[in-house]
Amino acid sequence: MAEEKSEQKKLSRRQFITGAGVTVAAVGAGAVFLGNGRNAEKAEDAEQASQALEGAVPITLKVNGKAHNLTLQPRVTLLDALRERLQVTGPKRVCDRGTCGCCTVLLDGEPVYACLMLAIDAQRHEITTVEALGTPEQMNAIQRKFVEKDGLMCGFCTPGFVTAVHAVLAKNPNATLDEIRKGLRGNICRCGTFNRVFEAAVEVAREMRRA
Ligand code: FES
Ligand code: FES
Repeated sequence: MAEEKSEQKKLSRRQFITGAGVTVAAVGAGAVFLGNGRNAEKAEDAEQASQALEGAVPITLKVNGKAHNLTLQPRVTLLDALRERLQVTGPKRVCDRGTCGCCTVLLDGEPVYACLMLAIDAQRHEITTVEALGTPEQMNAIQRKFVEKDGLMCGFCTPGFVTAVHAVLAKNPNATLDEIRKGLRGNICRCGTFNRVFEAAVEVAREMRRA
């Protein structure tokens, strides 16, 4: 009886080991399969990347006074070229469809939505982004006033607003509150800081007149 039990134990041990072996083999095979899958994915990515460059053309963008030579597809927006290719990330991507103004840049001094413009069409124009207007270390008068007036919360709309205020006041340093509001109507602040933004802009205009 004791012998029978020990034989059963041996059998079940053997069965377990055999079963486990099959499982390990299956997992191993799975790993090989996954490995092959990953290689296939990589190959697919590489193919997609090369396809993505199909039709790419050389272009030159003049951003903040510096010329940049790029090769990109004609469908690439100015915002993508700035942020993804040139790492100029001041202009923000929020709606990506011309409704919020967070991507505002200046094209020959005129505010435009970078998400609605093709990079290829921005050639031969002076593109100015918020980076050229002031830096955290050396803020311009508008940026300083935004801080002073608490004109931002999350800050996502701020580069667009600063750029748009710059455009409004560069054209008309005597801009009234109404004119400033009109000039900024293409910019939206989801955090609701409008009044403080307007207040900051009006005060900068006042200071510019005094200077
Ligand atoms: S991201 Fe361009 S308008 Fe909103
Ligand atoms: S501060 Fe958040 S969107 Fe304007």
